[in-house]
Amino acid sequence: MTDLATLETNLAARIAVAPDTAALEAVRLDALGKTGAISALLKSLGAMNADERKVQGPAINGLRDRVATAVAQRKTLLEAAELDARLAAGRLDLSLPAPPRRKGAVHPTMQVMDEMIAIFAEMGFALAEGPDIEDDFHNFTALNFPPKHPAREMHDTFFFPPDAEGVRKVLRTHTSPVQVRAMQRTNTPPAAPWIAAGQAPPIRIISPGRTYRCDSDATHTPMFHQIEGLVIDRDIHMGHLKWTLDQFIARFFELEGVVTRFRPHHFPFTEPSAEMDVQCDTSGGEVKIGQGTEWSEIVGCGMVHPNVLRNCGIDPDEWQGFAFGFGVDRLGRLKYGMPDLRDMFASDVRWLAHYGFSAFAAPNPASGLS
Ligand code: DAH
Repeated sequence: MTDLATLETNLAARIAVAPDTAALEAVRLDALGKTGAISALLKSLGAMNADERKVQGPAINGLRDRVATAVAQRKTLLEAAELDARLAAGRLDLSLPAPPRRKGAVHPTMQVMDEMIAIFAEMGFALAEGPDIEDDFHNFTALNFPPKHPAREMHDTFFFPPDAEGVRKVLRTHTSPVQVRAMQRTNTPPAAPWIAAGQAPPIRIISPGRTYRCDSDATHTPMFHQIEGLVIDRDIHMGHLKWTLDQFIARFFELEGVVTRFRPHHFPFTEPSAEMDVQCDTSGGEVKIGQGTEWSEIVGCGMVHPNVLRNCGIDPDEWQGFAFGFGVDRLGRLKYGMPDLRDMFASDVRWLAHYGFSAFAAPNPASGLS
């Protein structure tokens, strides 16, 4: 018994001071491993007579259980301490500066489109879309361009080669064909839930997109962007059109009481037609909207021509409407002062870094929409 007590005292002392799990494992093997002291004692039980075994059996088994428990408890402690040490050593220093990264920027045209869409969305306009490659009917005929009329040529159209039937598709010269698609009930299904399908009146849509004309100078590029607007309802008149555009201009340029004027104009698809100008000052070399004595042309517009309504299956005696078409890139130049329109599509990242916008900014601080 004295031997067992001494053995237990020794093992308990070694367990208590084992500095880490490896040292503890060495103690465990010395005691309980295949050739360990307690294992040897357990083996010796076989050679004892029944009386001896009755006494030694419980004593040795008890010793084994107590040593095993002591090892397990110390192991839990040491493992927790070792985890703490690893966590302390591997702690992240969050005060270190992040490695530099190249930042992208939102193209000014997309920024301006988002701003415009946000303002019109708040006024209750839905988005409508149409294809960039159009047919003659949607781009011209339905919009009341007479066949062979010089008005067709005024758009410097990019034509595709004729197909087997001699029909030439076009790169749409304006976003106005989307009006036709919005009014025709046979429109293809919308590409996304927020895109308006072709519908019966009342209609209130805007249609942003790319447009194309064979033209290139400081204020024209072969590809450019427009936003078309169309409202069809009962008893719609010029007053609604003027109010809508004035509201838009005030929100877009973030100016109260900016002066606009409507000049008579001609478009085949509207009657009467107008161009809206906004007051500006160019004397200092840059365009300042809302001051001075000059005018900058902003948007074409008018009351939808009865022929256009008829071409789309809508009775002009029952429904009227107005329409407008903005040049998005042009509006962006006026608001953000890019000198040459051609630079906008030259894909020069230095230009984009200078004129681009942060992706994290809301499109229009005034609108509250993002
Ligand atoms: N489609 C015209 C253009 O590209 C712009 C335009 C003018 C659109 C008057 C309209 C409108 O809807 O009513 O020059």
